[in-house]
Amino acid sequence: MAHSQKTFRQFMLEDQDIDTDLLMLLEDIATACRAVSDHVRNGAFANVLGAANSTNVQGEEQKKLDVIADEEFMRHCANSPRVAALVSEEVDEVHWLKESPQAGDFVVYFDPLDGSSNVDVNLSVGSIFSIMRLSEATLPSDTAVLRPGTEQICAGYAIYGPSTGLVITTGQGVHGFTHESGTGEFRLTHPDMTVPPKTVEYAINSARETFWYEPVRRYIADCVAGKDGPRKEKFNMRWTASMVADVHRILTRGGVFLYPLDSGNETTGGKLRLMYEANPMGMLIEQAGGAASTGTGRILEVQPTTHHQRVSVILGSSEEVAKIETYHRN
Ligand code: F6P
Repeated sequence: MAHSQKTFRQFMLEDQDIDTDLLMLLEDIATACRAVSDHVRNGAFANVLGAANSTNVQGEEQKKLDVIADEEFMRHCANSPRVAALVSEEVDEVHWLKESPQAGDFVVYFDPLDGSSNVDVNLSVGSIFSIMRLSEATLPSDTAVLRPGTEQICAGYAIYGPSTGLVITTGQGVHGFTHESGTGEFRLTHPDMTVPPKTVEYAINSARETFWYEPVRRYIADCVAGKDGPRKEKFNMRWTASMVADVHRILTRGGVFLYPLDSGNETTGGKLRLMYEANPMGMLIEQAGGAASTGTGRILEVQPTTHHQRVSVILGSSEEVAKIETYHRN
């Protein structure tokens, strides 16, 4: 594949139909990702690995790097005069930056360090973000940020792996950039990423089998049965415990990712967060030709009732997601 090596700014200006306000915000987000990448890589020297001895709003133990990554996103996203509010996984309340938000102002939703349990063992982690615009002037009220994923104008993630990557959609396909050490620029290395419709690879935390409901239990059993089973295919399983890394693999070579509603997480409505995990990943996967479902409907059409809402997530290769929906219908 011939790679264009345009910088992030060049590509956004020349090949994407976006306005200057959004471009400036995206550059601020890219800066936040570069800063987080640096903290992740140098964490052992700065004594910032390990637990922060605090919990976030979800009751999850925070890592020191969760807190640092959140500060980077908060600081850099606040640079843009068009950003009205920030919604972070790590912060209970919606963080309003404007007293009188206007129509067209941005709301940025983010998980500043996804899969942070991987940090201490030196495996891939990432940051996920989503951007919407307020449709009308509003009071800084938390209900104003509760919009379905279909209203996202941009979604993306940074992956901090062997290299640092930035994958983004503005509704015009999915494009991947790699951070070049030296210049410090993100350069377009993976234009027009697509998810093949068929796959024989799935990702699920199979230690939760005891909690699975019947449709997921039957689907996985049929995959595990391999060539002699009803699917007549040998399936492969991969699970990294980092949604960013698992979705990145799917965007690179296909597959399906499941974190379904089960009897162990049903009281909270699932495990993964709708507004800053499922929605942005859902938009990216759909833009790449895949599908993103709760098992019974499109993730992007879920109407949120709280900004930290959780949801059942099944996303990836379109034919496989459709198949899993069939298991749910039957
Ligand atoms: O915050 C969510 C997350 O860390 C995802 O990145 C990942 O896919 C999942 O949770 C891992 O869950 P588990 O701990 O069940 O493997």
